[in-house]
Amino acid sequence: MRLTTPSVILAASLLLLLAGFAGAGCSAQDPQNTLAAVGHVARKQQELFWTIFWWAVGVFVVVEGLLLFIVVRFRQRPGQPEPAQVHGNTRLELAWTVAPTLVLASIAVPTVASIFDLADTPAVALRVTVTGHQWWWEFQYPDLAVVTANEMHLPVGEAVDLTLESADVIHSFWVPKLAGKQDAIPGSQRKMWLRAAEGPGEFYAQCAELCGIQHANMKFRVKVQSRDDFNRWVRDQRTAPGEPTGEEARGRQVFANPANQCIACHTIDGVPGAAGKTGPSLTHFGGRSTLAAGMLDNNADRNPLNTNLARWLRNPDEVKPGNIMAERFKQAGIRLSDADISALVVYLQSLK
Ligand code: CUA
Repeated sequence: MRLTTPSVILAASLLLLLAGFAGAGCSAQDPQNTLAAVGHVARKQQELFWTIFWWAVGVFVVVEGLLLFIVVRFRQRPGQPEPAQVHGNTRLELAWTVAPTLVLASIAVPTVASIFDLADTPAVALRVTVTGHQWWWEFQYPDLAVVTANEMHLPVGEAVDLTLESADVIHSFWVPKLAGKQDAIPGSQRKMWLRAAEGPGEFYAQCAELCGIQHANMKFRVKVQSRDDFNRWVRDQRTAPGEPTGEEARGRQVFANPANQCIACHTIDGVPGAAGKTGPSLTHFGGRSTLAAGMLDNNADRNPLNTNLARWLRNPDEVKPGNIMAERFKQAGIRLSDADISALVVYLQSLK
């Protein structure tokens, strides 16, 4: 193949365009940017990434530079005699054996050191058990008797000791700014730890292992708070909701009605029979900023029927096709009336 000037320019432009697209994902403002690390674990991983990246750049420049130099310098010219034929060159062979060994050693030493450093969970750490479900996240705080879903609250600057589990298939727990991903595997427990060094703030997170049709919508949020705010949140979580009145009480009736099947899958403390574990606990649903695993804002509206929650209750399959609630609704032929949906929204959003 002959390299013509237009084809070289075309190839170079395409490469630049591609690099531009790839680079566009690296803005520091992006909520899931791994290169905007916060906290010891993520920083350590990011440092390691840059170390390896710059070594790779060096190798690329040297190898490709030499290649281009040789292609140009020793190209065939008309009338040129055949070059001298050689076999073996001890100095060259030594050089290209020793140089990569040194490069690999320069990568191996910080890599192994980081692995050992990050394997040590700090002795004092907040314990959280994370369970992946199709398609939402459950967070249990075993020392605090708190269970919540899709929004993990953490105190700023403190180490968090995470135990990862799965209720069904393999998921992967990933808070890009706080730590690298780790799989959540059914029938086994995996450990990781992290520390959110900055706060208060909110971190976007995502399941990172293909786990079914709604994998992309298996998101969650990490809410980093001051110690005082975190303690307040824990206290609220441990307080069962009060006795509802009016429209809220009607919503609770709709929820507790076995024909609607809510209580088969969801827990709300204080509602008789509502101890289901298939779906998220809704005891403090009103305190969450999102629903359907980070898909929709848990927004309020003067007309409850205009909220995202109403949209979800009306037809969960339209919001998140394939989810278990939609399947249950279909199988049992459940279609909530507008009046029931409205009351449910008022009741669920009152559960702060
Ligand atoms: Cu869970 Cu992907």
